[in-house]
Formats: sequence, C-alpha cells, structure tokens
Amino acid sequence: PPNAIIAPSILSADFAQLGAECARTMDQGADWLHVDIIKDGEQRGGKDINELMRQCRDGHFVPNITFGAPVVAKIRSHVDKPTENHGRGTFDCHMMIAEPKKWVKEFKKAGCDLYCFHYEAAFSSAAESPEQNTDEKTSPKALIRYIHDQGILAGIAIKPDTPVDVLWEILENPEEKERPDMVLVMTVHPGFGGQKFMASELPKVQELRKRYPELNIEVDGGLGPGTIDQAADAGANVIVAGSAVFGAKDPAEVIALLRKSVDE
Ligand code: DX5
Ligand code: ZN
Repeated sequence: PPNAIIAPSILSADFAQLGAECARTMDQGADWLHVDIIKDGEQRGGKDINELMRQCRDGHFVPNITFGAPVVAKIRSHVDKPTENHGRGTFDCHMMIAEPKKWVKEFKKAGCDLYCFHYEAAFSSAAESPEQNTDEKTSPKALIRYIHDQGILAGIAIKPDTPVDVLWEILENPEEKERPDMVLVMTVHPGFGGQKFMASELPKVQELRKRYPELNIEVDGGLGPGTIDQAADAGANVIVAGSAVFGAKDPAEVIALLRKSVDE
C-alpha cells in the first residue's frame, strides 16, 4: 500500500488562531491539512442510501456549519503549497455539503488541492435512488471530471450508511479523468469532531484495499493512538485525526505514532 499520509483535521484547532495553528501542525510533522467544510441543515434521520440522497437533494447534509472559501484562502498563505500531487502541504477539503458541484471553482481559487465530495450528494437534483443515477451531468464521474478540469485532485467520500459497493463502478471507469484520486471511508457520522470510532466501517477499507493496492484510502473520525492499528491493518493509509492531534499534549508524538502504525 502507499505510504502514510497524516492529515490533521483543523476542525479541532483554535479557530481564533487558525493560521498559526495550521503552520504549527505542519511543523509538528503533518503531511496534509484536512479542512472540513460543513454547511447546512438538520438531518431528518433515515438510514439508507436513498434517504441520505433525498436529504442532500433537499439541501440537508449534516447539522453543523464550519467555514467557507474566504477562510481557506486566508489560511492557505500560512502553509507552503505542495510542489507535487499528494505532496506535503496538500489542502484536503472534505466537503460536507449538499451541492458539491457548486463550490469547486470557488475552493480551487481559495487554494484547495484535493476536493473530496460525498457520494450521497453527487447527484442531488437528479435521482430518487442510486439506480437512477445515470444522468451524465450529475453523476459522480461527471463531478470528478469537472474537478479534474479545474486542475485539482478529486476525492469521493462515503457515509457509514452507504455501502462500499456503490464505488466499484466509479473506480473501474476506464476514463482516467473520471476516476477519483482518493476514497474517504467515514468512520463516524460526519458533522462533528471528537466522536467515537466506528470499527464497523473497516470491512469497507479492507475490500477497497484488496481490490486497489495503490489507492489512497482515507479514514476520518475517531482516529487516534487507540484506534489507528485497526485502521492501518484494514489498509487505510491517509489518516485524518482532529481531537487526537489538537487535543494532545505532544501533537508531534501523536502524528509520529499514527505514521508508524501505517508504515510498519
Ligand atoms: C467529522 C469530520 C472530521 C473530524 C474528525 O465530520 O469529517 O474530519 O474533524 O474529528 P476527530 O478526529 O476528533 O474524530
Ligand atoms: Zn473530515
């Protein structure tokens, strides 16, 4: 599998000192910064993929708000831009929003290097169920192509209630421009930092790794010294950690430990 990429989530940083917090985290050994863009509405509950998609179509993704492109543009200047794809300093923007296509250009301009959208939100206005997600303009593959056309990397994320099988078709697409550069498997219900790790999501990581030995597979939610080994064993290599890094007495030590679990 690819090398470890440690991506502290700045959701747990002190937002009043965000630029300095970003720079400090990079100095402490981070590879990427994971930037959680959370926007919109109460979830009505509902557990299956069709209901999740319906909620996205109505503009509901997660019940929280963080910040937007103007803030990303400001903090971008506190961290050196990566010199290569997936390199140090990559801004990994996790878009927990109901209309991902709408914001690609804006975030690219602000300095996003990897735009990771949610599968559940990729066709919000088009279909009632994944089976109907055939509209060329609103499918995940069209969105990936659109992101690539802006000159940045594309990631695709799935919530805990979304089965991993929905990704096979997307990953097997022969068109390189329509294939994602990373898959994010959520290990909590998205929306907040500091939640409990869901080991139930790891079989998704295992299956992805079995089929795609070279793919960047990211896990997000509840990762820290107590849970990293399970995630690394399953095959994850891009590790998001918010509260475990920003809440630590010695963040550099935690970042090093996370890296070691993946690489050894
Ligand atoms: C949650 C976000 C995460 C969050 C993780 O919806 O996507 O990136 O910051 O926080 P921890 O690591 O504290 O679970
Ligand atoms: Zn995230």
